[in-house]
Amino acid sequence: MGYFDPEPKTRRTDFFDYEEQLEEFRRGLKYSKLVAVAGLRRYGKTSLILTALNEMKAEYVFFDCRLLPSGMLSIHDVISLLERELSRRSWFRSLAETIEGVEVGGFGVRFRRRDFSTLVSVLERLEGRVLVLDEVQELRRSRYRFDSLLAHLYDHADVKVVVSGSQIGMMYRFLRVENPSAPLFGRPFYTVRLRPLGRGPAREFLLRGFEQEGLEPPADMVEEALDLFDGVIGWLTYFGYSYSRLGVRDLRSVLEMAARLAYEELSHALQIYGVARPRYEAVLKITAERDPASWSEILRYVESRVGRVPRNTLSGIIKNLTDMGLLEKTAEGYRVPDPVLRHAVRTFLKA
Ligand SMILES: Nc1ncnc2c1ncn2[C@@H]1O[C@H](COP(=O)(O)OP(=O)(O)OP(=O)(O)O)[C@@H](O)[C@H]1O
Ligand SMILES: [Mg+2]
Repeated sequence: MGYFDPEPKTRRTDFFDYEEQLEEFRRGLKYSKLVAVAGLRRYGKTSLILTALNEMKAEYVFFDCRLLPSGMLSIHDVISLLERELSRRSWFRSLAETIEGVEVGGFGVRFRRRDFSTLVSVLERLEGRVLVLDEVQELRRSRYRFDSLLAHLYDHADVKVVVSGSQIGMMYRFLRVENPSAPLFGRPFYTVRLRPLGRGPAREFLLRGFEQEGLEPPADMVEEALDLFDGVIGWLTYFGYSYSRLGVRDLRSVLEMAARLAYEELSHALQIYGVARPRYEAVLKITAERDPASWSEILRYVESRVGRVPRNTLSGIIKNLTDMGLLEKTAEGYRVPDPVLRHAVRTFLKA
């Protein structure tokens, strides 16, 4: 193990810094029943959650919503994933014996009835445990009201819930905490916000990581990596891993590999927009090229590529991209916040 291990970190010894956020997370979990961890892709949300819970010796269920199938979700999809996760938790075995409708055998945990009310009654029984819903915005793709389920647990069960989201705006659209007619409205909850490392800590992360690997890369390469990856801990880890364990010693090659990965993720994320996708791509293209781009620059470019687009349609597209964390509004204009994705859009996106 060590800093450059690519998996989400689970132990404090492999987890760099973020002391303040760890403390906030602990405090949030102590005083609130719902904690949201917000941060763009690769900012270290999953690592923070797992490291903090393990350090607190909390018993938890880690439900990774990214493992759900794409398209509309059925209750069967959700239950199957939950069964898999519960099967890995030794403490759940003895608990399961007391829950009606749940069986445990050599095959693991199985729900006898696979419906919403069984799901609710199993989750209610996680008394004293923590339910983690990683990338919770994925649960929006369902006709079931999972936000009602969370409100129900909040009000009636001794279960703490941690949600995380890299698509921060989408996470809040799912939780609908600001909508007076929505189930979770008015329930106090705690937010832990993750941000990229500053240049000093980012340098320290790389140097200590390389030291763990017994390597000392050229100082100018480290500085260039700091320029390229903008303090995003996941990309710094990717660089350290590629350099030390894959033997990729040239920074440009690391950037190309990272950009391909980011581009694939982008393609996947844009799938849901179907025929409107070229409009989304055109917005990203001009934004990444101009860095930043103004609203009217975006409009002009998009119309030059795909024909007339009503202004409110363009606003909707920009809002969706922003809520997905692919775009951000700054005082100077719109930007693609992730440095690698910005490079990927410039290099690979033909829009
Ligand atoms: N504090 C940390 N110390 C060391 N490595 C870290 C830390 N935080 C994150 N990492 C590393 O950075 C990468 C991204 O971390 P993680 O998966 O936890 O982030 P995330 O925000 O959940 O990302 P995603 O949005 O992709 O789910 C992983 O390789 C992880 O090991
Ligand atoms: Mg994650």
